[in-house]
Amino acid sequence: MALPPSQKLWVWMLLLLLVVVAKHPGALEKCIFDEVQSRVGVVTAASIHPDSPPREARHHPGRRVSPLGALSLKQRRSLRGLALPVPVSQPQPIRIRTWVPRERRDLSQAEKARLEPAVGEAVGIVSSLLSVSRVAGPLLLGRDINKYCKFLWRNSSTANYNRCGRANENYRTETCLDVTIPDDHLAGCDVYPEANSPTRTVLRPDGAGLPDTDFLLYLHVQRTDKCRAEPSVLAYAVHCQTDTHGRPLAGVVVICRDRLTGETYSHRGTVQTVIHELFHALGFSKDLFSTWRDCSSSSQVTHTDGSGQMRIYTQSVVSALQKHLASTDPELGGPLENLDVAPGGVSSHWESRVLQGSIMAAVLADSAAVRIDPLTLAALQDTGWYSVNLSRAQSLVWGDGEGAMFGSVSTCQSNSSSFFCTGSGLGCHYLHLHKGECQTDQYLEGCRIYKPLRNGSECWKEENERRSEEEDWSGEIYGLNSRCFFSNLTREKQSQFLLFSSSVEGRCYRHRCIGPNKFQIQVSGSQWTDCPAGGAIKVQGYQGSVFCPDRRFCLYSDIAPPSTNLNLFPASTAGPFTSDSDSHQTRTSTPAVTRSPVPLTHVPKPPAELTVATVFGITAAVCLLAAVTAFYRKYHSSRVRIHGVPEDPSGP
Ligand SMILES: *[C@@H]1O[C@H](CO)[C@@H](O)[C@H](O)[C@H]1NC(C)=O
Ligand SMILES: *[C@@H]1O[C@H](CO)[C@@H](O)[C@H](O)[C@H]1NC(C)=O
Ligand SMILES: *[C@@H]1O[C@H](CO)[C@@H](O)[C@H](O)[C@H]1NC(C)=O
Ligand SMILES: *[C@@H]1O[C@H](CO)[C@@H](O)[C@H](O)[C@H]1NC(C)=O
Ligand SMILES: *[C@@H]1O[C@H](CO)[C@@H](O)[C@H](O)[C@H]1NC(C)=O
Repeated sequence: MALPPSQKLWVWMLLLLLVVVAKHPGALEKCIFDEVQSRVGVVTAASIHPDSPPREARHHPGRRVSPLGALSLKQRRSLRGLALPVPVSQPQPIRIRTWVPRERRDLSQAEKARLEPAVGEAVGIVSSLLSVSRVAGPLLLGRDINKYCKFLWRNSSTANYNRCGRANENYRTETCLDVTIPDDHLAGCDVYPEANSPTRTVLRPDGAGLPDTDFLLYLHVQRTDKCRAEPSVLAYAVHCQTDTHGRPLAGVVVICRDRLTGETYSHRGTVQTVIHELFHALGFSKDLFSTWRDCSSSSQVTHTDGSGQMRIYTQSVVSALQKHLASTDPELGGPLENLDVAPGGVSSHWESRVLQGSIMAAVLADSAAVRIDPLTLAALQDTGWYSVNLSRAQSLVWGDGEGAMFGSVSTCQSNSSSFFCTGSGLGCHYLHLHKGECQTDQYLEGCRIYKPLRNGSECWKEENERRSEEEDWSGEIYGLNSRCFFSNLTREKQSQFLLFSSSVEGRCYRHRCIGPNKFQIQVSGSQWTDCPAGGAIKVQGYQGSVFCPDRRFCLYSDIAPPSTNLNLFPASTAGPFTSDSDSHQTRTSTPAVTRSPVPLTHVPKPPAELTVATVFGITAAVCLLAAVTAFYRKYHSSRVRIHGVPEDPSGP
């Protein structure tokens, strides 16, 4: 029987494009994952039925086999209709191995010096958040039967039903996006020349596989057409294979090489970009929503609410959002971005109006504002593939306690929430680390928020202080403990000359906490003065007032200037990476999983059981391609389906 064209078949990929729109503190990093993904064909491969014994595995005492899918073809073949034992082990931190294709290792030392620590840190953070039932034995990816095989036995009464009857002579190898997967990472394949005879010809032998690996990240630093076409693209990603439960096993991340070199390169921004792409590749993808294994909901993972907003309705997500917005509204599923999505369509990002600052919003804001938020971790938990340590979520200040209607287009312009603004005046970014200007963007759909100024907006940066005499009227103080306040303070002795400057705008003053939501401020030349949350104060020697924000200070222990290195996730070691030349000698390193800040130079001693091979850093503004994978998902004993996946991969 003729097979569909192979190119449609095998590689199931998600592409994630990250875009940097600008480099100033308000820079946007936009992810165009869905746009790219829609152009990538998808393959669903046969899977092992999970209830049968690992018959063939016993013939391979030397090599243990993943119960979840990374099986050799022989094993898959012999296991048709059988099931592997479900591992009883406790979930353990996911081991993400980064592998760099040989042809892409011509990076300069400077590029490596940016890339390696960033990718290593991102991998360490993800490993500290997500645990899996680990792959037992080496991870071995599958081959696409539709590529290596020209013809399958289709008579279900024959012994070799759905096995390969004749090899495709043009078959070369498997690819993941444009990465050629080494034979060493792949299961073998063989051909059964006769319908009923066990005689077979080995087409390709099994590779050695990758030890201590639960997810294989092919890391590619490149100047691709996509990178060139849009200067703002940082990185993109696809996933290429999944295991029998649907969990992604391998993917590609492409980092646009030129983004590693700019003066405005941000380590923290790059780490966040890589985490964003990894989360897509690991399951936060519209193409995987339908395969999430959340057993609590009987209905679809995503559907629209009464107002037409597409939402994720899984248990942890709903309760995380209810808690965040302080509402019991059962309609509060996780809202998905609707820009560039057809009505009723689904995207792979949170809605920016509601979840501004989330690591999974379509636009990554200033790195000081990006949060690995509770809703994103809840979503990963609801994939069913991970055990997520939800207590490690970073606080999402945006919208906290604002109620079910928060962020709706109908309410954001009504002055009902201090998170939004109207007009185009100057004020403070909602975290009060930066001064801001009231602006909108395409994702905000007319809602406006204070975005950091193009430059010099950080109150916590001492060098932003303007020292000239004539500008000294406002009493501003910059420095690590300074924050942005709405204020129209004017020095009394100067006010007569500066009547025009009495409008309220964002100003930087020192602050210190004296209790939850209780703080004092200090302006130039003043004493420390209590600033009652939600109120306003006068300051001796000044005209005008300082307005004291409510619920922004002294409540969130993890909101601080980036320079203070107050990380929930300390920098982990940039572990070694594996490449063509040393794919056998896999060194490993460990993600840092401690919570207290760890100096960058201090490498925590890896627990023996934790092995995470990290990558090879790529740098600067990053463009990641998290690849997604193809797999053996649909294999049942009675019925083997080997066919091209429909263009729309969302239907399993
Ligand atoms: C399928 O195979 C069985 C057993 O070999 C044979 O009897 C039958 O005729 C075959 N059916 C077709 C449609 O070829
Ligand atoms: C979850 O993270 C917290 C904070 O890092 C840690 O104290 C706790 O032990 C972790 N729980 C598990 C089950 O790993
Ligand atoms: C919100 O406040 C601004 C400035 O105070 C004002 O111009 C605008 O009309 C107000 N909008 C609404 C809907 O009240
Ligand atoms: C911002 O940058 C521009 C151009 O580099 C400069 O003219 C301006 O003074 C800067 N503004 C601040 C507040 O530093
Ligand atoms: C400061 O702003 C407040 C509120 O807008 C206003 O009432 C007050 O007159 C202003 N003070 C000065 C000195 O401009």
